[in-house]
Amino acid sequence: MMNKAQEIKTLINGLSPQQVLALIAETYKENIVFSTSFGWEDQVLSQMIFSQNLPIKVFTLETGRMFTETYYVWSRTLETYNKPIHAYFPDKVAVENMLTQKGPSSFYQSVQNRKECCGIRKIEPLNRALQGAKIWITGIRAQQSANREDMDWVEWDEAHQLVKIHPLFYWTLNDVKAYVAQHHIPYNPLHDKGFPSIGCQPCTRAVAEGEDFRAGRWWWEDADKKECGLHS
Ligand code: ADX
Ligand code: SF4
Repeated sequence: MMNKAQEIKTLINGLSPQQVLALIAETYKENIVFSTSFGWEDQVLSQMIFSQNLPIKVFTLETGRMFTETYYVWSRTLETYNKPIHAYFPDKVAVENMLTQKGPSSFYQSVQNRKECCGIRKIEPLNRALQGAKIWITGIRAQQSANREDMDWVEWDEAHQLVKIHPLFYWTLNDVKAYVAQHHIPYNPLHDKGFPSIGCQPCTRAVAEGEDFRAGRWWWEDADKKECGLHS
C-alpha cells in the first residue's frame, strides 16, 4: 500500500536520522530490519542503532565473494558494539550448480549470468532476511546515482510488500565522513583507496577522481543495467 509509506513519512518528516530510527523502532517494534553491506553509510546507521539499543534486526547478505577488508570491518563492528549481526548465506546447491556449469567468473560473460549470480548470492537470501518485516532500513543516499536521486526517502516496496526507509537519503558524502570521524566508527579501509561504493570483490573496482560514485560497480556493463535487484 502506497498509503502506508505516506503515513510513515508524515510521522517521521523533519526528524534527524537518529530520531527517525528511534521513533520507528518505538512504533513498529520487532518488525524492522536494517541491511548492512558495511559501507560507511551502513556503518553510520549501525552505530545509531546499536548505541541507542534499538530493537532493529541488523543483517548482512554474505555473498561468499566479499573483500577481505569487508570481513575485517564486520569483525571490528562486532568488537566495537557487541551486538548481533545476522548473516544470510546463499543456497549451497544453487551455488554448486552455477559453479559447476559456468565456473567462478560467469558474471563477466553476460548480463544474464550476472543477474543469475546476484539472484543466487543476494536476492534469494534477501527474501529470507525480509520475511515478516514491515520496515526495511537501508543506507542509500540520493547522491549515489542519478537513479537514486529520483527515489523517495520513504517508499513502498511492492515486491517485498513493506516500507523502505533511507534515513541518510539527504546526507552528502562529507556528512557521512564527518559523522564517522566524530564517533570513531570502524569503516572499510577501501573507502580511502578510491572505492566509494563496495560490493562483491570481483564486481567492484576503484574509481578515478571525479568519476561517478557507482562507476566502479559492474563497470563492464551499460550504466542502465547496473542494479543488482536489491533495490529495483
Ligand atoms: S547495491 O544494490 O548496489 O548492491 P549498494 O552497495 O549501493 O547497493 O548499497 C545500498 C544499500 O543496499 C546498503 O546501504 C545496504 O542497506 C544494502 N546492501 C547492499 N549490499 C548488501 C549486502 N551484501 N548485505 C546487506 N545489505 C546490502
Ligand atoms: Fe555475483 Fe558479482 Fe552479483 Fe556478487 S555482485 S552476487 S559476485 S554477480
